Amino acid sequence: MKILETRDLRKYYGHGDTQVKALDGVNLSIGEGEFAAVVGTSGSGKSTLLHMLGGLDYATGGSVMVAGKKIFELNENELTIFRRRQIGFIFQSYNLVPILSVYENIVLPMELDGRSVDETFLKEIVRILGLENKLDNLPGQLSGGQQQRVAIARALVTKPAIILADEPTGNLDSRTTQEVLGLLKLTGEQFHQTIVMITHNEALAQLCDRVIHIEDGRIVDDHMPGSRPESPMPGSRPESPMPGSRPEDAMPGSRQDAAAGQRDAAGQGAMKQNGMGEKTGSTAAAKEVRA
Ligand SMILES: Nc1ncnc2c1ncn2[C@@H]1O[C@H](COP(=O)(O)OP(=O)(O)O)[C@@H](O)[C@H]1O
Ligand SMILES: [Mg+2]
Repeated sequence: MKILETRDLRKYYGHGDTQVKALDGVNLSIGEGEFAAVVGTSGSGKSTLLHMLGGLDYATGGSVMVAGKKIFELNENELTIFRRRQIGFIFQSYNLVPILSVYENIVLPMELDGRSVDETFLKEIVRILGLENKLDNLPGQLSGGQQQRVAIARALVTKPAIILADEPTGNLDSRTTQEVLGLLKLTGEQFHQTIVMITHNEALAQLCDRVIHIEDGRIVDDHMPGSRPESPMPGSRPESPMPGSRPEDAMPGSRQDAAAGQRDAAGQGAMKQNGMGEKTGSTAAAKEVRA
């Protein structure tokens, strides 16, 4: 089933001579459970595409359909709820809440939505991301790479149906990059998540189900890498599935929580408390901070 579709999607910024066609007629169809990489040079429209897919901003023209529903027909409130319940964003600029600890940042989306945290799952994510000793720190006390890992943990812990990740490994060393990719794949498979990941890293893109090349706001290539290795990269996958991360491993009652997690992720609605200045200057990301 197609979960994400765009038809003649256009996003123009500005007018006249200074107009920028960030997206200029994008037709895209992504199946449920697919892990797609989006690659392209800086300024090619990758982040804009991700923002449009996640309903962070309205398009200039065309449509985005999520599970068959045209999201631009939703009003702002409905769009906010859609994002909270369906989408896990991993922003390039992290969007962490500076006055909350790492742990509080990670669980905030769940808590705002009144959902209990799957502590076993959270522990495993935190372990893989190497954040065990940072849980009591404030984001400002962490390096860029560590903050990025917190943002990844926050997006994963809600088990959203769709993960939209903007250069999630951009600030990570190669070992952590591989582990993060392994983690995304593992949780993606276990929760049947659809993942769209922007990356500059061609080698990383080749490990996804599909590689979409974008240039000047248009898709110029869309292919499946020759073969996808059956086993992920060394060190990226635990020998056995993560405890608590398979619905069938769940404690009584929590199976439903896991299923609900896919439909009802709090998403980055939590970010409304983020008083941090927007680093990207993107109106879309700034909007999400307020959402
Ligand atoms: N809020 C905005 N206002 C004006 N121009 C923008 C805005 N966001 C992006 N752009 C422009 O749209 C184009 C695509 O940007 P973006 O999607 O961020 O590219 P990428 O993520 O591939 O680097 C660029 O030329 C960028 O300058
Ligand atoms: Mg970008």
